[in-house]
Amino acid sequence: LFGLPDQAPHEQVLLAADPETGLRAILAVHSTARGPAFGGCRFWSYDNELAALNDALRLSQGMSLKNALANLPFGGGKAVIIKPAGDFDRPALFAAFGRAVQSLNGAYITAEDVGTTTADMKGMMATTQYVSGIPREGAFGGDPSPKTAFGVFVSIDEGVRRVMGRDSLEGVRVALQGLGAVGWHLAEYLHKAGAKLVVADVNAEKVSRAQAEFGATAVSVSDILGADVDVVAPCALGAVLNSTTIPALRARLIAGAANNQLATAADGDALQARGITYLPDYLVNAGGIISVAREFRGEGEETAVMNEVAQIRGRVSELLDRIKTSGQTPAREADAWARSLLVKPAKA
Ligand code: NAI
Repeated sequence: LFGLPDQAPHEQVLLAADPETGLRAILAVHSTARGPAFGGCRFWSYDNELAALNDALRLSQGMSLKNALANLPFGGGKAVIIKPAGDFDRPALFAAFGRAVQSLNGAYITAEDVGTTTADMKGMMATTQYVSGIPREGAFGGDPSPKTAFGVFVSIDEGVRRVMGRDSLEGVRVALQGLGAVGWHLAEYLHKAGAKLVVADVNAEKVSRAQAEFGATAVSVSDILGADVDVVAPCALGAVLNSTTIPALRARLIAGAANNQLATAADGDALQARGITYLPDYLVNAGGIISVAREFRGEGEETAVMNEVAQIRGRVSELLDRIKTSGQTPAREADAWARSLLVKPAKA
């Protein structure tokens, strides 16, 4: 629990329970070396509390790396709320979660993640000031997903140019696993750029819409990772790159929004051994945190935020340069690069 030997342990982890609303939440502050820990709040059904803790710890550590590589003046943290089994009052539950966030006095700042909405964040403003991702009248703010999608899009575009030697996405075949908030916006960007989409989602209606709107080819959820494509973009779940799926991959490039795509560090090596370039999730999916971080600092403006997200392209390019020199896999190189940045930035 206190971190692997080569990794900094978590600074603090709060277990928050409120019997009145049914709240059971874990707020994990991994690192505040660069500034307050910033990362979303997941609302999810877990098999048991240990699974929830494990998720919170893994995700918060990932946020430290993501925020450092994105050059944000924030550390890494994440929260998970265990979805109550029975009926519950959602606004009351999130208000109680907001009180838990507030009790950390700004060491942790929250925002949307899987299972939480802009309405949840807005409601929490009554109980904490440390919340972002809120639509604001006449000001920048709200759903970070389109920004995340844009960051993934520029990463795929750069990866295709560098790894496949193509000069555009025209005709490039991309498999999209998950057509949710990020996946759908990503599909729009890719379609506009001329890519050919192969899609899968557990929600059949989203798949039909993608067929109609983007001329996408539908495949089953069990076949999407092994589809005959150039690029796979995981935009649903974590740990999808593992010893079962990697041997079946046919793509040359993997770049998607889902957090923690590699089941284990060894899976990054297995991808490399198969000649598949994996662009680390926390490098390419930083668009959302860039957006909510700007919003939180009151500096948000659409064009400036999109320009900042577009800089992910340069970092993908730099990573591909670095691995040429170091001979490391992209996953291990990005890890080392991010860890070297877990210090207070010179200019906040
Ligand atoms: P979402 O919940 O809106 O979308 C997920 C989609 O995946 C849904 O359409 C769902 O039906 C589908 N899905 C679930 N299981 C599936 C399966 N086995 N096969 C295919 N599709 C499946 O979530 P969102 O916001 O789009 O996020 C997607 C991923 O990106 C998550 O892992 C999230 O942690 C990560 N992420 C999201 C960010 C954001 O700004 N929303 C920022 C950074 C990471």
